[in-house]
Amino acid sequence: MTLTRRSLFAVAAGTAAAGIPLGQAFAQQPREIKLGYALAQNSHFGAAAQAWSDAVEKSPVNNFKFRHFPSSALGGEREMIEGLTLGTVEAVVVSNGVLSNFVPDAGVMDVPFLFRDTKHARAVLDGKFGEDLLAKFRARGLIALGWGEQGFRHLTNNKRPVAKPEDAKGLKIRVTENQVHIAAFRQLGIAPTPMAWPEVLGALQQGTIDGQENPVSVIVSAKLWQVQKHMTLTGHVYAPMALIVSPTLWASLNEAQKKAFTEGARVGGRASRQFVDDVEKKGVEEIKSHGVQVVGDVDKAAFRSALVPAYKQFAEKFGQKTMDDIAAVQ
Ligand code: PAF
Repeated sequence: MTLTRRSLFAVAAGTAAAGIPLGQAFAQQPREIKLGYALAQNSHFGAAAQAWSDAVEKSPVNNFKFRHFPSSALGGEREMIEGLTLGTVEAVVVSNGVLSNFVPDAGVMDVPFLFRDTKHARAVLDGKFGEDLLAKFRARGLIALGWGEQGFRHLTNNKRPVAKPEDAKGLKIRVTENQVHIAAFRQLGIAPTPMAWPEVLGALQQGTIDGQENPVSVIVSAKLWQVQKHMTLTGHVYAPMALIVSPTLWASLNEAQKKAFTEGARVGGRASRQFVDDVEKKGVEEIKSHGVQVVGDVDKAAFRSALVPAYKQFAEKFGQKTMDDIAAVQ
């Protein structure tokens, strides 16, 4: 905040008239925290962001005012994360889509069919693996404070119903800028097209891609039924989200403030899970009601066996033990 001589006088005169010491008046100016995320404020991202900001703003360290930038207003997720490292953004809620480009170990979560179900995924992220992974962000210049959730990703497209791997062959599917997803889709004979989210709706409209993959929460929030005819409940990858702050913000906080941001991020993460639980209950019906043909009976075993060569590659990259440890979590 830059204060001109005139504004200093104005503050001094106003606070003196109100009997407030000048130092205290400046101390009371809340610091603005720019918080960016990809989807609308009434999405699971908005739920996490709102709960996080409310928790921090209402905490005893109430010196902060969050300003939300929903719907990719600060750019794609890669740009938002870069903004954190450059210090132009203070906080983000992002999907795991691009995370492994910054924190390579995060990529293991992108391995298809690694998580059995939501309960398993949450247990892994809330346990030692999740905490250790959050700590690894620091070495990469990012302060990740908690995990939220998007749900399991499903395939949508405009060409044909997909029930087994062969049906998906040749489809041009947008994927996030994520090497594990790209390798897995390529293995299935799909043509993966990495693209930042803000470009996806236009590309689907123009037909430069046939489809995309995202959880029910995203498909509903983005109303993808406007641009997609078919959906397959592949549930191929669990999609967490991460609540991250910039190293510059972090370095400026005292211990009590750090605690408020961390605890707030945990509250935000839980709010996104609650949102996802709700949207998963009725989301598929809503998608169907807009004319999308949904294939629920998916031959997941066939998808897994088609991916065997890619799994070998993932085991080399992340270590078979890490993948086994994750699988063993109850
Ligand atoms: O597919 C993606 O890029 C992400 O899942 C999205 C839609 C940006 C939500 O974070």
